[in-house]
Amino acid sequence: MNKKIVVLPGDGIGQEVTAEGRAILEAVASVFDHQFSFDTALIGHAAIESTGDPLPEATLDKLRNCDAILFGAVGHPKYDNDPSAKIRPEQGLLKMRKELGLYANLRPIKLFDELLGASSIKPEVLKGSDILFFRELTGDVYFGERGRRDNNLTAYDTMIYTRYEVERIAHKAFAAARTRRKKVMSVDKANVLESSRLWREVVQAVSAEYPDVTLEHQFVDSAAMLLIKNPRAFDVVVTGNLFGDILTDEASQIAGSMGMLASASVGDRVGLYEPIHGSAHDITGKGIANPLASILSAALLLDISFGLKSESDAVIEAVSSVLKDGYRTVDIKDESTPKDKILNTRQMGEQVEKRIRTLSKPAH
Ligand code: IPM
Ligand code: MG
Repeated sequence: MNKKIVVLPGDGIGQEVTAEGRAILEAVASVFDHQFSFDTALIGHAAIESTGDPLPEATLDKLRNCDAILFGAVGHPKYDNDPSAKIRPEQGLLKMRKELGLYANLRPIKLFDELLGASSIKPEVLKGSDILFFRELTGDVYFGERGRRDNNLTAYDTMIYTRYEVERIAHKAFAAARTRRKKVMSVDKANVLESSRLWREVVQAVSAEYPDVTLEHQFVDSAAMLLIKNPRAFDVVVTGNLFGDILTDEASQIAGSMGMLASASVGDRVGLYEPIHGSAHDITGKGIANPLASILSAALLLDISFGLKSESDAVIEAVSSVLKDGYRTVDIKDESTPKDKILNTRQMGEQVEKRIRTLSKPAH
C-alpha cells in the first residue's frame, strides 16, 4: 500500500512523542511491505515563532493533500499566562479541525490490565473498562460567537448546535455501537441548556434508525460522577465538544494515565490522529514523556484511515507485550516497578518497535 502521511509534531512533548509514533509507522511499513512517505509541517507555537501564524497556509496545503495526519500537541505556557494574547497556538488546532471538517473525535478508553495499579481508582472498579467516546469536534461553544461588551465589563461565548451537526455525530456513535455492546449513552445538560435540548431531540430521532441499539441519556454532571463510580457501565458515549473535552480527560484516569490515550478525528476526508494529552511543557526536553499515546494513535491511523486492521492489531499487541514485560514510563510506573524497567521516551518507543520488527512478513 502506498500512502502519504503528514507528521505535525507541534509543541512541547509533541515533538518527542510523534517521533516515536512515526518510527512505529516506519517499522510497520517495512515489516508489512507498505510504502509510507512522510512529510512534516508546522503548527502551534512553533508555527507562530517562524511564520506568525499558528496554522500557516503551507501546512493546510500539505494536510489537504495527504492520506493521514499524525499530530502531537500544541500549546505554550507563555500564552496560558497571558489571557490578552490575540494569536494563540490552540487556534491552529481549532482551525485545522474546522478546515478539514474533522467533526468526530473518537477517544477509546481501553485499560491494559497491566496498568490496573497505575490509576488512582481501585483496580476492582476499573477492571474490564472499555469505553468509546464520540466527542463532537467542530461545533459548540468552541466555535460559537464570542466577544466582550459593556466596555469590557462582560465577556461571552455562545454554545450553539445545528441539527445537522448533532445528526452526523450521532450516526457515527450508533453505527459504532452496533459493532460493540449495542449501547449508546448521550451526554448533555438538557435540564438547563437549550442547545442540549436540541441535542437530545436529534439523538432520539437518530436512535429510531437503530432499533437494535439501546439509548440512554445522562446529564453531564451525573455522567462525570458515574464515570468514576462505575466505568464498566459505559460503552459508547456521544457528547458535545466541551463536555467531551472534559469527560475524556477525566476518563483518561481509567486508562491509568493521559499518556496512554490515543484519539482519532475524522470527518468526510482525511483523518487526524493524536494523543489526548497536551504539550506538557513541565516535562518537555527531559525525554521522559510516554510515547504510547502517540504509538496507539498510529495504530488507530492504520486501522481507520488505511483499513490495515492486522497492522493496527500488531502495534497494539506490541504495546501490550512491552507492558507485560514490565516496562513503564514514569507516568505509569507504580511502587512495584523496578528501577531498570523505567524507560525514557526513546527507550519505550524502541521496545515497541523491536517487537514489531520481529514479526515475520505476512505471506501474500
Ligand atoms: C483536546 C485539547 C484541545 C481542546 C485544546 C488544546 C484546544 O484539550 O484536544 O482535548 O480543548 O479540544
Ligand atoms: Mg482536552
